[in-house]
Amino acid sequence: MAAIRTLTRRVGGSMSGMSLLRPQHSAALFSTSAKAQFKVAVCGGAGGIGQPLALLMSMCDLVKEVSVQDVSMAMVPPAGVAADLGHIEYPAKVNGYAIDPSKPAVDQLAECLTGCDLVLIPAGVPRKPGMTRDDLFAINAGIAKGLAEACAQHCPNAIVGIIVNPVNSVVPLVAELYKKKGLDPLKIIGVTTLDIVRANKFVAEITGQSPLDIDIPVIGGHAGVTIMPVFSQSTVASGISVDRIPDLDKRVQDGGTEVVLAKAGKGSATLSMAYSGARFGKSVLAGLAGTPTTECAYVASSVTELPFFSSKVTFGKSGVEKIHDIGPLNAYEEGRLAEAKAALKVEIETGLNFAKTF
Ligand code: NAD
Ligand code: LMR
Repeated sequence: MAAIRTLTRRVGGSMSGMSLLRPQHSAALFSTSAKAQFKVAVCGGAGGIGQPLALLMSMCDLVKEVSVQDVSMAMVPPAGVAADLGHIEYPAKVNGYAIDPSKPAVDQLAECLTGCDLVLIPAGVPRKPGMTRDDLFAINAGIAKGLAEACAQHCPNAIVGIIVNPVNSVVPLVAELYKKKGLDPLKIIGVTTLDIVRANKFVAEITGQSPLDIDIPVIGGHAGVTIMPVFSQSTVASGISVDRIPDLDKRVQDGGTEVVLAKAGKGSATLSMAYSGARFGKSVLAGLAGTPTTECAYVASSVTELPFFSSKVTFGKSGVEKIHDIGPLNAYEEGRLAEAKAALKVEIETGLNFAKTF
């Protein structure tokens, strides 16, 4: 029961956000009165992350409608993904939207995005072995910019979860675009949840505890050394001997590369990312529905001297309600923080420099 409660917190932030059990099963465990009230779009919804993410969001009992958006030449037509998901016995209505990427997304996505409360963006190209996330900026920045312009026009109050890499640079670029349009840059949130998910799992493997009872904050950003797990803030992980921490830290940093290598040129993490994106999305929706919910996320921030940083963020009825301080660090973590900030500074500048061109 304790594990189920923790899982409930993770996927929805409240008993009513529970959605991994079918309602009739969860009703036996919880009194659930969730209202399907939110519209969610998944851009890149026909892709490796997009399809399972759209599935998980369509199964969230807070969701009344899901837009699956992709390009017209996607591997599977978004209308097909939507038709498929539309047969699942959950209340959400699912619609597919294909765009011609040679034309502005903003001119093609009015129906898809109007009324959205949350837009999740895994649209873009994934890494192959030997590439860094930075190498994706040249192609993915333009995709993200086009979709962000469409969000700014058609759903300016929606929370926009940036999954497309490099998150460390794409979030500053999109937040800057929102600022230039007079919109709130805190609507733009970098999804770093997969780093937390990995840290929880890897600590569970070492300690033998259930991952559902572990919650490691991961701060900084989402690439290489900028991924900074704070093991000392977890009662479970703080029991791990100090000489094992550097390797564990490195494994979390390199989790994405581990999957890229194992997929051998056929993509990067998709299923664990879909799980993580849904965990993030459900936390945002739980907040919007009135249950404040806290997750680490990468946002415009003043907790360090950098303009963007990932730390614990509380989502509430209006979106980002509180950005929490980093909290206490040990000497090893202080050293790592300096390393993470130095790398992150450069990656933030990449995004901000691009934003100067528009
Ligand atoms: P994928 O190639 O399987 O899917 C991407 C989808 O985006 C494709 O269906 C493609 O047609 C679509 N797309 C391209 N241009 C588009 C546009 N203008 N509008 C809408 N859709 C468009 O890739 P994937 O494995 O799903 O990964 C997507 C992105 O997510 C990559 O950049 C990857 O690096 C990133 N990612 C981030 C995290 C994270 O933790 N934040 C984790 C894993 C992957
Ligand atoms: C991940 O962490 O799995 C993603 O950022 C994808 C990648 O390129 O590693």
